[in-house]
Amino acid sequence: MKNVITIDGPSGSGKGTISKLLANRLGYRYLDTGALYRAVAWKVREDNINLDDENALRNLLENIRIELDSNRISVDGTDVTSEIRTAEIGELSSQVSAIPVVRAGLFSIQRNLCLQGKVVIEGRDTGTTIFPEAENKFFLDAGLNERARRRFEELKLKGPGITIGQTLEDIRKRDERDSTRENSPLTRTEDMVYIDSTSLSIDEVVEKIMKSLKK
Ligand code: DC
Repeated sequence: MKNVITIDGPSGSGKGTISKLLANRLGYRYLDTGALYRAVAWKVREDNINLDDENALRNLLENIRIELDSNRISVDGTDVTSEIRTAEIGELSSQVSAIPVVRAGLFSIQRNLCLQGKVVIEGRDTGTTIFPEAENKFFLDAGLNERARRRFEELKLKGPGITIGQTLEDIRKRDERDSTRENSPLTRTEDMVYIDSTSLSIDEVVEKIMKSLKK
């Protein structure tokens, strides 16, 4: 028994908040896999790497040093916790995540953590590709308008000038790319418990998950 809980779902579905609370409650570790793709996107922008340059990307993945705990993330010694949460890095991370060398480069970090057990891992492919043998898999969803509203509330604190309309359009585009890419797209499978959080509170979602956990 590894005690791995996977939570997949689209942007703004509440995966981050819910996974963190769940991990705290269970005394498990927590891995936000989206933060890994955001960290790579940050480095791609920092080093001005062209997304078509496969060798440069492979080299980046071989050398990047990502350190993360439940609160902070750093890339090659620079704290990027706040910088990776912008709309720009969100978009770039989605583009970067469709590239096979990037996914391959991040696979073992995620897989190894799951093999150690007692972890809540969240993202787009955690229950399908990273740890398909997990005992407990969830797919967290919410309506597009509600997801855009949640994301907008986060983003407006970071950059004035952002609009709800633009946020909705960005999310829609990103979901489409994340769900239709060839490599490990966001997919809901039959062995996942589906939760629509559109009209549920955070606590209600956590309770639903706690009740569904197989012992
Ligand atoms: O969850 P997030 O918004 O922080 O994720 C950023 C991007 O990373 C998302 O648009 C797609 C990608 N991603 C992925 O491809 N696979 C994952 N397991 C997690 C994130």
